[in-house]
Amino acid sequence: MHSEEIRSRFLAFYEKRGHAVIPSAPLVPLNDPSVLFNTAGMQPLVPYLLGQKHPAGTRLANSQKCVRTVDIDEVGDNRHLTFFEMLGNWSLGDYFKEEAIKWSYEFLTSKEEGLGLDPSRIYVTVFAGDEVAPRDDEAAAIWKKYMPEHRVYYLPAKNNWWSPGDNGPCGPDTEIFYDINPSPLGDMTHDQFVAADDAGRVVEVWNNVFMMYEAKDKKIVGTLEKKNIDTGMGLERIVMVSQKVTTVFETDFFAPVIEMLKKKSTTYSDVSAKIVADHFRTALFMSADGVVPAHKDAGYIMRRLIRRGWTHARNLSETLVVDDLTEMLEYFVSIYKGTYPEIATVKASGYRVILAEIEKFGKTLAQGLKEFERGEDPFILATTYGFPIELTLELAKEKGRTVDLEDFKMKMAEHSKLSQTSSAGMFKGGLANHNEKTVRLHTAHHLLLAALQEVLGKGVKQRGSNITEERLRMDFSFERKMTDEEKKRAEDIVNAQIEAGLTVVRREMPRDEAEKIGAEMEFGVKYPDVVSVYFIEDQNGKHISKEFCGGPHVSNTKELGHFKLQKEEASSQGVRRIKAVLE
Ligand code: ALA
Repeated sequence: MHSEEIRSRFLAFYEKRGHAVIPSAPLVPLNDPSVLFNTAGMQPLVPYLLGQKHPAGTRLANSQKCVRTVDIDEVGDNRHLTFFEMLGNWSLGDYFKEEAIKWSYEFLTSKEEGLGLDPSRIYVTVFAGDEVAPRDDEAAAIWKKYMPEHRVYYLPAKNNWWSPGDNGPCGPDTEIFYDINPSPLGDMTHDQFVAADDAGRVVEVWNNVFMMYEAKDKKIVGTLEKKNIDTGMGLERIVMVSQKVTTVFETDFFAPVIEMLKKKSTTYSDVSAKIVADHFRTALFMSADGVVPAHKDAGYIMRRLIRRGWTHARNLSETLVVDDLTEMLEYFVSIYKGTYPEIATVKASGYRVILAEIEKFGKTLAQGLKEFERGEDPFILATTYGFPIELTLELAKEKGRTVDLEDFKMKMAEHSKLSQTSSAGMFKGGLANHNEKTVRLHTAHHLLLAALQEVLGKGVKQRGSNITEERLRMDFSFERKMTDEEKKRAEDIVNAQIEAGLTVVRREMPRDEAEKIGAEMEFGVKYPDVVSVYFIEDQNGKHISKEFCGGPHVSNTKELGHFKLQKEEASSQGVRRIKAVLE
């Protein structure tokens, strides 16, 4: 059965049983800052599950677009995807366990209205009970009407309790599994079943949650006024089961794309092909809902997917080009536009957002990979070559190398302080702010330090810095107020160097060598054995400035514009502070 028919059969089945079919909410939740993307069909419905009246009634069904990136590292196995559709039916204080279980069973097994799956391959689990809620004998008793008692397994909360997070509606659930092996597994003991699940020999296809409680900060704070049903069935997975294939990538969602990638590959890798197909499909859906690659939040996830996807695309073939990817995106558009018309907007814009991100990354990818091979610092890979740390970690794992994550975080935090971006944001998924304005100010910062040393003497050392889009701020060691004349001279020197069009180059060298040549270091910072030093030099190679620095910087000082010193004041004992801008 084709995927489109499976989706429409599901919706028709529940419509016939009094459910209003509602459209998918956008991938990015409108009013829920606690998640970046909808990760389950119930998420956009939380207010209704907590008691608010839904305009379409008390029985709903839909196919919801979802993104789960906790599984990102598992993409490439048989089951994990970053984007998926979740089929769901809801009862908002209407029917409960009896009908929910009956209909699930009927939909899976009915040849006329459902999928016609083999009942003897179905297994189910129910909640075993704990100090929070009792064993779900009720659900088990209902299941026994449809299947042998020994195929109903009791499992703990870890498996059979569902909540969308630490807060919200929650309750025990029952999960339905299907045996996908050529020769059936038949009857299994409890332990055999658990082992088969762990080994992926049975796949979970559907979850029915009996929502009766509300949680706050991980604790149950009460029972819901009305009991609800929340179910979720991953479409790609049920299509896989129904089409009798063993990976989602062999279903009609992906098979033609994998085939195409195989044809275009010179060094085909199954895992890379799956990652490419998965990540670009997800990026397409994100783009359709208005997400654009960015340095934090949803945009950062999108950036990561595109960059990881493109790295794997180049793994397949170094000559694979953007046009080849466009062909793949075309296929996805063709199969989804009927269900999700917003996809057509991405096509209409010529996949601009996705391709622009590839182009941006593509320019530095080859060089970045080379630097990675040479053992370049992950901090430099992130800031100069645009490698999200997750990508570096993955590459390192492939090569059996270790990455000093603490060191990376420390440098990133220092760097964020410098460009005044949120370091907290970084570790939630964002990268430091590298827009043009801050990059220009960063280079001006180096020129200013050199100019101050020329005017006030070599004893001037940087003691702190902070850069926003609007201005730079530098703290430096100096005992007294600067005179107007000194300020003017420093300003003039910086402007003369901007006008001279000096080149800015980054060189890597052992730390002790950089110290020997007198490169400026930031006070109190611990540097690695091999460091990155930025040189600003004239045509004759004379160094105007040399500083230990991760960058990024402009490549020529001409890009800076006009430098203006705005303020010079005391910061603390023996430390002065300058604020300056570029106009
Ligand atoms: N909310 C349940 C899940 O996502 C159905 O598994």
